[in-house]
Amino acid sequence: MWEGLRFLLVVVAIVANVHVIDSQKPQLGGAVNVFSRYGYLSISMRVVPRNDTDTWIFREPTLDVFRNPTAAPPRQQSKSAVFDGDFHMEFCDNIRQLLQAYFRDFTFEQLEKPWRAFTGSWSRSAIARHLGINASFITGEHCYVLVRVARFRESQKLREPVENLVLEEAVAREANNITVGDTVSVIQFIRNFGSHYIASYVTGNSLYQVFVYTPQVYMRIKERLKTRGVAELSSLELSNYFSPWYAEHMGAIQSASGNRSVEAWAIERLRVQYYIFTYASLLKLHGDAALLRQLDALLGNEALLQLQLRTLAPLFKDPKRREWFHEVIDNYVKLWEVNM
Ligand SMILES: *[C@@H]1O[C@H](CO)[C@@H](O)[C@H](O)[C@H]1NC(C)=O
Ligand SMILES: *[C@@H]1O[C@H](CO)[C@@H](O)[C@H](O)[C@H]1NC(C)=O
Ligand SMILES: *[C@@H]1O[C@H](CO)[C@@H](O)[C@H](O)[C@H]1NC(C)=O
Ligand SMILES: *[C@@H]1O[C@H](CO)[C@@H](O)[C@H](O)[C@H]1NC(C)=O
Repeated sequence: MWEGLRFLLVVVAIVANVHVIDSQKPQLGGAVNVFSRYGYLSISMRVVPRNDTDTWIFREPTLDVFRNPTAAPPRQQSKSAVFDGDFHMEFCDNIRQLLQAYFRDFTFEQLEKPWRAFTGSWSRSAIARHLGINASFITGEHCYVLVRVARFRESQKLREPVENLVLEEAVAREANNITVGDTVSVIQFIRNFGSHYIASYVTGNSLYQVFVYTPQVYMRIKERLKTRGVAELSSLELSNYFSPWYAEHMGAIQSASGNRSVEAWAIERLRVQYYIFTYASLLKLHGDAALLRQLDALLGNEALLQLQLRTLAPLFKDPKRREWFHEVIDNYVKLWEVNM
C-alpha cells in the first residue's frame, strides 16, 4: 500500500517536471513509447486513410527529453526534378511482404519488424480497407505489387551526435537511477519517458495502389522485370502487366492522408481505357511530366511518410546502464514481436 502510494507520487512529480509536447506533427528529438500502442500505431500516426475530417499528422504522446534538439541542415534539392519525392513499385509474394513494403520507410531501432507496430492489430477487413483492395483477395493465395508515388513536403533530421545534446534534468536524474540487473527500473523508465526518440521524419502525402495477381502470373512478371528492368519494358508490356488482362484485381488508388479530393482527381485523371477495360492506374503517371506536375500541387503536407526512431540509449551516460537498457528493450521487443 505504502509502496504503491510512494510510486504514484514519484510518477506525478516526474510528469510535472517534463514538458509534454502537444503537437500535431512529429517533434524532432521527442521521446515516444513504441510499446504502449504496439500494433495500433496507425491510430496515432497518420499513415493510412482515416475516416475523419481532422488534419493531424502525429498525435502519439511525445516527451521532451533533450533540452534543445536541433535539426541537421537540409539536404540540397535538385532544381530540375518535377517532383520532390519518389515513385516506386515493390513485388510482394504475400500479405506479410505487402505490409512490410507499405511501411518500408519506417525504421525503429532494435525492432526487426517495425511494420508490425502499425499492423499487428489489423483484421483482414482492416488490411483490405487500408490498402484499397477487396478482402476476398487476402487469402494467402495471391501475390501483390505495391505502386506508390510519394511527395515529400517536410524532411527533418536530428543533428548528430545525439550524445552532445543536453538532457532535461528530470530525465537525467531518472536515467542515473536505473539499477543494472533490475528490469522493473528500466520498464518504469520507459513508461515514464519512452523507449525511442524521433531521429528523423518526412511528412507529405502519397498515392498508392495495390495490384493483385495469381502466383503464376506474378512469377512471370517478376521474372521478366528481373531480367529486363522497368525501363527496358515497352509501354505496351507495362500496360498489359498492370491491367485487368494480367491482374486478377486492381486495387483502388488511395492517398496516405485519405484526402478525398486527391483521390477523386486520380480516379478522373488517371483513368485508362484499354481495350474493353476502363480503370484508374497509377502507372499512367509513369513518365508523364504534365500529370506529375498537377499531382505535385495536390499532394500536401498531410501524412507521415517516413519515420526513424532510435532508442533512448544515449540518455544513459554510464555504459553499464546503457547496456542494460539495451538488453531490456531487446527482450521487450522480442516479446511483442512474437506475441502480437
Ligand atoms: C465513415 O464514416 C461515415 C460517418 O461516420 C460512415 O457513414 C461511413 O460508412 C464510414 N466509412 C468507412 C469506410 O468506414
Ligand atoms: C469483393 O468481395 C466481395 C465479397 O468478399 C464480392 O462479393 C465482390 O464481388 C468483390 N468485388 C470485386 C470487385 O471483386
Ligand atoms: C532512485 O531510485 C530509488 C529506488 O529505486 C528511489 O528511492 C530514489 O528516490 C530514486 N531517486 C531519484 C532521484 O529519483
Ligand atoms: C485535400 O487536398 C486538396 C488539394 O491539395 C487541398 O486543397 C485540401 O485542403 C485537402 N483537404 C484536407 C482535408 O486536407
